[in-house]
Amino acid sequence: MALLAVVGSPVAHSISPEIHQMFAAQYDILLTYEKIESPLLGFRETVKAFLEQGAIGFNVTVPFKFEAFQLVDTLSRQAKRARAVNTVKRNESGLLEGYNTDGLGLVKDITQNLGWSLADKRVLILGAGGAVSGILEPILNEDPDCIHIFNRTHSKAEMLADQYSSKVQALLQGDLLKNYDLVISGSSAGLAATGSASTGMSIPLQVIGENTFCYDLIYSKVETPFLSVCRSRGAKEVVDGLGMLAEQAALAFEIWFGDLPNTVPIIEKLR
Ligand code: ATR
Repeated sequence: MALLAVVGSPVAHSISPEIHQMFAAQYDILLTYEKIESPLLGFRETVKAFLEQGAIGFNVTVPFKFEAFQLVDTLSRQAKRARAVNTVKRNESGLLEGYNTDGLGLVKDITQNLGWSLADKRVLILGAGGAVSGILEPILNEDPDCIHIFNRTHSKAEMLADQYSSKVQALLQGDLLKNYDLVISGSSAGLAATGSASTGMSIPLQVIGENTFCYDLIYSKVETPFLSVCRSRGAKEVVDGLGMLAEQAALAFEIWFGDLPNTVPIIEKLR
């Protein structure tokens, strides 16, 4: 029986256990996949105790992806670039290998499941936190025309953009283009239209036109405020991050077990 978990705070809402159990069933693998709520100042101790129970690895979610990055013994290229780890595997020598499957999971969902192309597209990303740092390189690898980053704190967007090629730029609100091909929200705040009374991040409406595809990294049973704004602007398609969640999980499963699960029936079931 393989022992795994997702470690975060909060984790009560996580559907990772269900997803990994469905993957395991595809290969007749017996799995215990727990949800572990870690104290904010006790991530290391929490993980250590879990590994002592014989765990073969774990997933990491908010707010511990950077701490996991600092904790592991080796880093994949993606994890290094993102400075964030969402998947840890304990290898045969007992060393902790750190990976980041978030960005690749997003790109797989966008290009394979949704059939949207990123090549030559003008992409706008809202937010510049941990979630965004994990997705830039995989998107860049799809050769978009440009990636613009808009964030409440402009300096954070600039710091991120500076780490990549000149295709990635941090822009101020007034410099944003009209009608991006794809707008991705990576903000942890509920987004609201500029001028709207509701709290949350304001989104410059000119960036969304009727040919704009909109993707929220967050998944939710009810439509997220960002996607509602996009829909009300007549966006071409609006999608939440459920597919990304399933794809990053599948890539983590492959790291642990060597098999890449079929996500299609699982995404359908979860919807
Ligand atoms: P995560 O790991 O989920 O990305 P994070 O690193 O705390 O979390 O980043 C949160 C992102 O959401 C940041 O881009 C943050 O903007 P700041 O860099 O200005 O803090 C953005 N965000 C959170 N609350 C926001 C709000 N009320 N308005 C605008 N942006 C917000």
